[in-house]
Amino acid sequence: MKKKTIVITGGNAGIGAATVNALVKENHQVFMLCRNMQKATTFSQGKKGITIISCDLASLSSVQKAAKEVIAQTEQIDVLINNAGLIMNAFQKTNEGFEMQFGVNHLAHFLLTQLLLEQVRKSEAGRIVNVSSAAHYRGKIIFDSFKNKMGAYRAMKAYSQSKLCNVLFTRQLAKLLQDTPIKSNCLHPGVVRTSIGNKSNWLFSLGWNVIKLFGISPNKGAQTSLFLALSEEVKTSGSYYDEHQKERKPSSIALDDKLAEDLWKYSMDEVQDFLIPSAQV
Ligand SMILES: NC(=O)c1ccc[n+]([C@@H]2O[C@H](COP(=O)([O-])OP(=O)(O)OC[C@H]3O[C@@H](n4cnc5c(N)ncnc54)[C@H](OP(=O)(O)O)[C@@H]3O)[C@@H](O)[C@H]2O)c1
Repeated sequence: MKKKTIVITGGNAGIGAATVNALVKENHQVFMLCRNMQKATTFSQGKKGITIISCDLASLSSVQKAAKEVIAQTEQIDVLINNAGLIMNAFQKTNEGFEMQFGVNHLAHFLLTQLLLEQVRKSEAGRIVNVSSAAHYRGKIIFDSFKNKMGAYRAMKAYSQSKLCNVLFTRQLAKLLQDTPIKSNCLHPGVVRTSIGNKSNWLFSLGWNVIKLFGISPNKGAQTSLFLALSEEVKTSGSYYDEHQKERKPSSIALDDKLAEDLWKYSMDEVQDFLIPSAQV
């Protein structure tokens, strides 16, 4: 396979790390955007083809700085994998005042995609892969909750909303890029044995440890990301795939075109100050 240039968020742990391991084994050039440089450096030791870029997705200015660093180092990006994500069970805000799960899981990746799009356009067949979740089936979009605490904070409600944003974003991006060769798809990786649920309080962590017993390995969980990033079999854009690399119908809310447009407009307004001229859909 032709060597590709691939940008991935959160490549130092879990599904992202398994994805990077598979990519570098095939000699692809990988830019890892990570918030913890020490963790990322330790992970990348002994591996060829990795460039680590500091990026805290809880800060839009950090996302902009990271994108500029990527742009300075490569003219073309073949694949952007928006992989990083988190679950929090306490209400917290990003640097710019967004609810943390919405800010990191959706808005930061929305901005990153806008900022790197010119480089993706330079690829013969660019791909944008958004790691969503089956949790999106339980998600609802409440615009007021993107910045405000609405009653008691419920971790999975905010997480499901952010993962629904991933599907709506994927679909709207595909629509806006329909006259280009770029494919934008999203996925559920499966229930994967990672630490994603172990960063909250002990009770949440305990629950996740039980769920994880029934989960698949990070290597298996990375398969759909790798498929959507690299496989010639992928002909779709705007689609949602499961952990078996099968296209699935997302939730009815995820298929709401007007909502996808509204979320796009909202997100574009909110990242406006962080865009680089000409780098947007
Ligand atoms: N595991 C599952 O069962 C499952 C199921 C469905 C969907 N997913 C999705 O799969 C993706 C990967 O999750 P995972 O299970 O591999 O989780 P993980 O092991 O916790 O890895 C998450 C990655 O995201 C990074 N990250 C979190 N917050 C960040 C921030 N503010 N800035 C930069 N990077 C940040 C983490 O960095 P640190 O190492 O510095 O924390 C880590 O590299 C997520 O989008 C998740 O929603 C997972």
